[in-house]
Amino acid sequence: MSNTMRLDKLLAHMGVGTRSDIRKLARQGRIAHNGMTVKDSGKHVDPEADLITVDDEAIVYRAFIYVMLNKPGGVVSATEDRRERTVVDLLDERMRVFSPFPVGRLDKDTEGLLLLTNDGQLAHDLLSPRKHVDKTYYADIDGPVGSDIQEQFCQGVKLDDGYKTMPATLNVLANDESGASIELTIQEGKFHQVKRMFEAVGRKVRYLKRIRMGSLVLDESLPSGAYRELTGEEVELLRHYNQD
Ligand code: URA
Repeated sequence: MSNTMRLDKLLAHMGVGTRSDIRKLARQGRIAHNGMTVKDSGKHVDPEADLITVDDEAIVYRAFIYVMLNKPGGVVSATEDRRERTVVDLLDERMRVFSPFPVGRLDKDTEGLLLLTNDGQLAHDLLSPRKHVDKTYYADIDGPVGSDIQEQFCQGVKLDDGYKTMPATLNVLANDESGASIELTIQEGKFHQVKRMFEAVGRKVRYLKRIRMGSLVLDESLPSGAYRELTGEEVELLRHYNQD
């Protein structure tokens, strides 16, 4: 079955320009559809099957984008907000035309790995509680973290609302009386989960950064606030969560 869409919509999606820019390009005879010049930018084309060129350069259509953002503190994980800057505001227009949304949420003050996509199925699979997708966080804690806390996290701790967390893996990277640096891997995504798990054992999280989600690892070469598209391999690995 072929799915058609308006040529101007397709080209706007691919970042060629606004619809009026594209109308102009068509009038100037710079757009071709299967080798024939197109003057009407409202023409319906099949984005999967047809060859579209602008100035003789092929425009390869794609429906989905996948973006890894190194989220900075101070922005909210939403597509829009009346008061706050959102993670989508950090993307440039060429990304925003795809209407990406964040896959899950990081708190406003949490930094690190956030996936943005317009692929609803993949987002749904990654967030499904049934899939138990591992999420790993780096955190600085305001007191010592010993083997007693490791053991409690391994057994599951009771949060303030009575919920008992699933087993989590806690690695202590550095530790003394004044504080600790840790990595924690959890399989759930309850509201403020990491902060509430530490509160349950009498500690406070001073700094929190996500470094991994399933197979996707934060690219440490991305400065805070920067982003890049996922590689084909990274997308393929994430698609494995879609099986069964
Ligand atoms: N757990 C938290 O407490 N905050 C986050 O942003 C993510 C996990």
